[in-house]
Amino acid sequence: MEELTGKNILLGITGGIAAYKSAVLCRDLIRMGAEVRVIMTEAATHFITPLTLQALSGHPVHSDLFAVEAEHGMGHIKLARWADRVLIAPASAQTIARLAHGEADNLLTTTVLASEAPLLIAPAMNTVMWQDAAMQGNIDLMLARGVTILGPASGDQACGEDGLGRMLEPSEIIEHLQLQLQPELLVGKNIVITAGPTWEAIDPVRGLTNHSSGKMGFALASALHDAGANVKLISGPVHLRPPHGVDCINITSALEMADTVKDNISDCDIFVAVAAVADYRPVTNANQKIKKKAETLTLELVRNPDILAMVAALENAPFTVGFAAETENITEYAAQKLAEKRIDLIAANPVSGDNSAFDSESNELTLFDRNGNSHLSRCSKSLLAQKLTKEIAQRYHETYPAKDT
Ligand code: PMT
Repeated sequence: MEELTGKNILLGITGGIAAYKSAVLCRDLIRMGAEVRVIMTEAATHFITPLTLQALSGHPVHSDLFAVEAEHGMGHIKLARWADRVLIAPASAQTIARLAHGEADNLLTTTVLASEAPLLIAPAMNTVMWQDAAMQGNIDLMLARGVTILGPASGDQACGEDGLGRMLEPSEIIEHLQLQLQPELLVGKNIVITAGPTWEAIDPVRGLTNHSSGKMGFALASALHDAGANVKLISGPVHLRPPHGVDCINITSALEMADTVKDNISDCDIFVAVAAVADYRPVTNANQKIKKKAETLTLELVRNPDILAMVAALENAPFTVGFAAETENITEYAAQKLAEKRIDLIAANPVSGDNSAFDSESNELTLFDRNGNSHLSRCSKSLLAQKLTKEIAQRYHETYPAKDT
């Protein structure tokens, strides 16, 4: 892990059972070399004491907007200016709503409004609350302003439910912070990335598709944008909001994806194929719904173009990164795809059993290039995307040192 030496982190803690994890977060940030100041909302003080955070951070904990003494020390405006990053963990539904609507009615939200430092929030709440339309609307507003949303993770919750809503573990939050604080690795590079499934129509109401949710590709598009790149995301049908700052083009079929990639590839420095493209499509797409008459029905399929191989074969091909979705023999098949498609890097992930990459919140990747292979262990797709971005940037710069000037 890289150090956080010299970085000023303003840690906001709000009311929720996950607040106990903030003590570990505070301690580990300091161990990594960060300077930490803590603001707690009144609700947070019901879950963990300011004294604990004061002892861990080595500084008084701020929680009262009108505390005369605190304002004489490092007042909230000074704190707002001091911070390199504002990190709110856990972020409750209430605080997220306040921040989304610019309400400055407590010390934390006032300080956030007064700060120009990038804001990261790690939501923690009951899974039904997290999925509520009002909550998701607030998250949309925050994302549109460039706020980084860390998680939430999925799993057992203190309220007894199981699902999305758990605060990310402190170690994951810190890794996000470290990756965000590193120099932008792909400034000004043009990147085209594909994501999601394709839909190959059989008739107006039916089609062939797969389980890709687009989560891995969207997370990677977001991480590449964070690294300073101009990112064009070409996506099949998914239910995700386009990442902040990323130009998203929606397509349906593999042929449309191939055409859209061709139209956008000319000034591309790096091409990343995360999409689960259908290898075959029906030869005919019936104009009307096919009626149920015979006992059996045979569909004739024809091969779709291989988009990744097509890009890699271009005369001035960009640096090309593929993904390999495998149910068995990951190493053998991924190495085979790397060679056959003549690409620079391939990231292989499992797509069967409990650890399937399809539609899950977490994933793991084995990377293969001409120098061998390495593994990125299982973590949230957003963190994995940041790690993969670093790997892509390193190899890109090694391959094209002349383009760095
Ligand atoms: O979307 P999620 O739910 O988050 O799931 C993520 C994922 C499992 C879809 C993703 O991590 C992944 O593995 N994507 C690649 C899926 C795939 O189609 O793999 P493949 O082994 O069949 O194809 C190899 C590579 O060739 C891929 O980069 C693919 O985009 C590309 N390809 C394949 C066929 C085709 N006609 N054109 C292509 O460009």
